[in-house]
Amino acid sequence: MSFTKRQLTPGNQTTMKNKHRNHQLSAMECPVNRNDVDLFSPGAQEHWYEAYPILHETEPVVRVPGEGTSSATDGFILTKYEDIALVVKDPVRFPPRIHQAIDLLKQTDSNDDTYRQANAMLLSMVSLRPDNALYRAHRQELTDPWVGPGASRHTEMIKDCIRRLLDAWDHHSEVEFISQFARPLPQMVMANVLGFPESDIPQLAEWGAAQVTAFVYGKGHRNILSARQAEKQLKLLDGFKEYVHEKVLEKRREPEDDMISWLTQAHYKALDRKLTDIEVNGIVYAMVIGGLETTQYAIEEQAQLLCEHPGLFNTLKLDRNLVKNFVEEGMRLRSPTQGLSTRVTRQDEEFQGVKVPKGSLLHLRYGAANVDPAEWTDPYELNLNRKAVTRHLVFSAGPRVCPGAGISRLEQNLAWQALLDCLEHINYAKDNTFEHQPGIMLGTLSLKLNIKWA
Ligand code: HEM
Repeated sequence: MSFTKRQLTPGNQTTMKNKHRNHQLSAMECPVNRNDVDLFSPGAQEHWYEAYPILHETEPVVRVPGEGTSSATDGFILTKYEDIALVVKDPVRFPPRIHQAIDLLKQTDSNDDTYRQANAMLLSMVSLRPDNALYRAHRQELTDPWVGPGASRHTEMIKDCIRRLLDAWDHHSEVEFISQFARPLPQMVMANVLGFPESDIPQLAEWGAAQVTAFVYGKGHRNILSARQAEKQLKLLDGFKEYVHEKVLEKRREPEDDMISWLTQAHYKALDRKLTDIEVNGIVYAMVIGGLETTQYAIEEQAQLLCEHPGLFNTLKLDRNLVKNFVEEGMRLRSPTQGLSTRVTRQDEEFQGVKVPKGSLLHLRYGAANVDPAEWTDPYELNLNRKAVTRHLVFSAGPRVCPGAGISRLEQNLAWQALLDCLEHINYAKDNTFEHQPGIMLGTLSLKLNIKWA
């Protein structure tokens, strides 16, 4: 069963331009040929899905001179599925860029400024998972039981969060879907998983936003913040560090049934010891940075896909087994994490005939790989019967694949099952601009929906 949205078809840019207010509001013109394509200028996020077919056809590997790990090396944007899949599945040949920071910290005195400025996540990586073998153990032992394959333990809690959010809609016929559902749901879920009171969510949300500042406001494919932005971020996150530290102490003393309590008590077999406070703090930092906005974006884009494909809501309502594939196709077509500059070349490489020297920084454009016509038949169509529908690179792949994929998928599936239960259909309300936030995530700023209750 295949659903086509006319405006998504590559080569149909004129329709897109007239149709979408986000195109008119963008600081840059919608690209029609290679010279117009720029994935990182202000406003570029409104045109990514017009840029990808152009890049796939003309220049699937883009060199960004002087934007490697230093100004002496280059960055390379990869847009092909086969290239990105190869890179992420081989962490020895393509080591994560973060390993450079880990190696530097390993040689640094803990009183040094470099140490003070390192966030808890990085510090915990230095001691808990500095290499590939420990990385695997860390996932299996410490995060899988809570946010990976073990996430199903949270099913009732997630259903309860969804129920409370929908009750608050109070049978209104119009909602602002992001602030009234897509954003608070992952915030509530992660607060409950970690063991933070829900009353702290407004403060936690502020810290969560501070953590992802670079991904939203950072410049270029490396998400570089100005010195002022970085200083402001550091100050804000000091509060988060203290807050989590207090919670860790509290839960070490009096453990409850939550992830932080469990981490304070766990015996980490890979290192044959318990975790220190700063290590627990680091894992919590990673859960908050990864667990909030990404799932929000997935749900809000899925709502848009439902509005744009007449009949799809009813099809899913009548056959709930299709929801799982809808969620996967939704994420494939509108990948929340569009791209990350995360891997380095250990040796000279070649992608699509382009020579990529040793020491280059690779920007993995997951959003483009997920609509690569060489990998996907009718890549811009939402196909509920697509074969091997989960092979997309939304969560990356290989040994470093996103550890939170399990809980994110569960949240999305339960959300749509509940929405299909209680609604007849959803449509765009008037006055949506469809503007996206800047940065490397695909996130619409607001989304007003008209809803008909069942
Ligand atoms: C739709 C939702 C999500 C998307 C699209 C997403 C995407 C990604 C991607 C692309 C990566 C990079 C993997 C790599 O380097 O190969 C990643 C890493 C990560 N994600 Fe997610 N993620 C999502 C949800 C979550 C959730 C719910 C959590 C936490 C509960 C989470 C935690 C993390 C962490 C901690 C990492 C870093 C892993 C590391 O230490 O290397 N993510 N995610």
